[in-house]
Amino acid sequence: MARPDGITDLSHIRAKAPLYKDKSVPAEIRVDNLLGLMTLDEKIMQLNQYTLGRNNNANNVGEEVVNIPAEIGSLIYFDTDPALRNAMQHRAMEESRLGIPVIFGYDAIHGFRTVYPISLAQACSWNPVLVKKACSVSARESRMSGVDWTFSPMIDVARDPRWGRVAEGYGEDPYLNAVYCAASVKGYQGKSLSDSTTVAACLKHYVGYGASEAGRDYVYTEVSPQTLWDTYLPPYEAGVKAGAATLMSSFNDISGVPGSANPYTMTEILKNRWRHDGFIVSDWGAIEQLKNQGLAADKKEAAARALNAGLEMDMMSHAYDRHLAELVAEGKVSEATIDDAVRRVLRVKMRLGLFDNPYTPDVPDRFLRPADLKIASELAAESMVLLKNDSTLTLPLRNVRRIAVIGPLADNGKDLLGNWLGHGQAEDVVTLREGIAGEFGKDSEIRYARGCALDGHDRSGFKAALDTARWADVVVLCLGESLRWSGENASRSSIALPAIQEQLAEEISRLGKPVVLVLANGRPLELNRLEPLANAILEIWQPGIRGGEAMAGILSGRINPSGKLAITFPWSTGQIPVYYNRRKSGRGHQGFYQDITSEPMYPFGHGLSYTTFEYGEPTASKTEFRRNEKIKVSVPVTNTGDMTGAEAVLWFISDPYCSITRPVRELKHFEKKTLEPGETAVMEFNIDPWRDLSYVDADGKRFLETGEYNVIVNGKKISLKLTE
Ligand code: GLC
Repeated sequence: MARPDGITDLSHIRAKAPLYKDKSVPAEIRVDNLLGLMTLDEKIMQLNQYTLGRNNNANNVGEEVVNIPAEIGSLIYFDTDPALRNAMQHRAMEESRLGIPVIFGYDAIHGFRTVYPISLAQACSWNPVLVKKACSVSARESRMSGVDWTFSPMIDVARDPRWGRVAEGYGEDPYLNAVYCAASVKGYQGKSLSDSTTVAACLKHYVGYGASEAGRDYVYTEVSPQTLWDTYLPPYEAGVKAGAATLMSSFNDISGVPGSANPYTMTEILKNRWRHDGFIVSDWGAIEQLKNQGLAADKKEAAARALNAGLEMDMMSHAYDRHLAELVAEGKVSEATIDDAVRRVLRVKMRLGLFDNPYTPDVPDRFLRPADLKIASELAAESMVLLKNDSTLTLPLRNVRRIAVIGPLADNGKDLLGNWLGHGQAEDVVTLREGIAGEFGKDSEIRYARGCALDGHDRSGFKAALDTARWADVVVLCLGESLRWSGENASRSSIALPAIQEQLAEEISRLGKPVVLVLANGRPLELNRLEPLANAILEIWQPGIRGGEAMAGILSGRINPSGKLAITFPWSTGQIPVYYNRRKSGRGHQGFYQDITSEPMYPFGHGLSYTTFEYGEPTASKTEFRRNEKIKVSVPVTNTGDMTGAEAVLWFISDPYCSITRPVRELKHFEKKTLEPGETAVMEFNIDPWRDLSYVDADGKRFLETGEYNVIVNGKKISLKLTE
């Protein structure tokens, strides 16, 4: 329709509204347009992250910025109400010259308010589909609370349970971490980052952090180029392929070059080879810490090394905001480097839709929704691992009239939430005692006694506990760790439980009652003294807000346990590191400990069910093949018991001879299947030789050698031969 003023061409007018604000313009053009309008100072501010509101991470102290400039690039947001975030966002959009939105980040590691099991527990579920669902709930609760970006998933392969952060990742295996990494990225990021229920993921801590010497945090990590490629990088490659928007650079010194100033990992591998087009944020203060690590004389040099290595954003070091302008003026950092970094940050903000929808609507009833609680309960149950159920088959408990619930974890909500509990509340938690009351209260009498604290020497509660145990038909003894004993900066020289807990177990065991030991902890434990004292042992980890309900369901048999260990339980601390995919010894018949067994207490993949599964012989579509051929290996699995049960079928490969020595076994596929009693399922592993049989060398080159390969499932092996 003709305009009243007769004007027909509005292009010159529309040109006045900068392109970057025009949502009809392609994102990259909007980014280019904006970058071209920015001053150097405005660019530099995009490369900084401060905090907004209270800081609930005690390990992180830093110079808090009170008057936050409207030009700030990012803020860590510690609240659940979008109002504070929106107020700051209005300042960024309206008080700064160009109106660039802030990206708000937060550590929603295993849930935002609906807290799920810790990641190490989730890994034992062998159910990445369920993990993805949990991450999508965490994303929705986060985004609706003003958080656009979660500093998760943590995918650091870890084999030293003295390191508290073993709790945050998905265990000792590279492939398993890679599968869960991809699942969590897809859960967090959904179909589009611009949805109001998704968040940007952040792969961390890039890279090799799990190799922390002696299990201590923030220390040196000896990572050979070979181990970097065959152990620590695979989960990150999977995350980048899954589309992760960001990564976080690690604190650790990677064999002389700290992760936050490492051009090989951050530029050569991530940008040049993997073509990642998002950005990297440092870990808290990691740039400034380059001084302490002896890589930089001062913060200014640290800033230059970090940015030139490919680290785009400075979390709370105040290195970039204070020194980059000077470094550019001195020619030590080029504006082109700055531009590339800023482009990456703006690209993620554009993909999140923050330019077009910068504010978070206040949606009521966004937490603890029934469907989300159901996921919490399912994931808790599938993460739990039945480690022992003796010949009397103590579990499931049948026709038990008197149940004693004893121990420091029995009536304890907070510690079931685990480390990095986000905005989880102890009152949201179904405790073990509450779970048992809900499950058994109708037909059984239940009595509780704490017995002792988590630690210390106070035995004054023992008498009441022993009296309660004497009264009972069965004792459910709930032992474990404080949530503070794992997670960041939470290393322990021994992975045994405190003596007071073991003493309580010893005294209860002497009464001769059936004892079900329930363990709530954030790491593998030393159980060689506790194991003989219990008829059954159920590892529930830190199971999140529905832990009590899931645990009680397993005790009653309403739920058949299906978890399998994603990390080895050493026989004792002295065995560490002990993990399944070790290299072969030249003298397998020697080299054993003189004073203890050399076998772990419970191996990777261990986990009992209330039913039994029988595996037939594996067969292959062909046993000789060429590298461009696919092979299908199958195995029949039958539920030979009388209860429905889910079985995770784990497929490993081994390459007996290779020009680079390989681990004794390597997990390469798994599938979890529910089988009715008597039901048989043929489980398959469709092998792509290049994907599943190849190896990687110290420079990241993948190769596939002809010769023999073994496929192993449930200890049964089938040999294949690659002919060319
Ligand atoms: C911490 C942790 C990291 C976390 C960050 C922000 O130091 O190492 O995992 O995401 O700071 O809280």
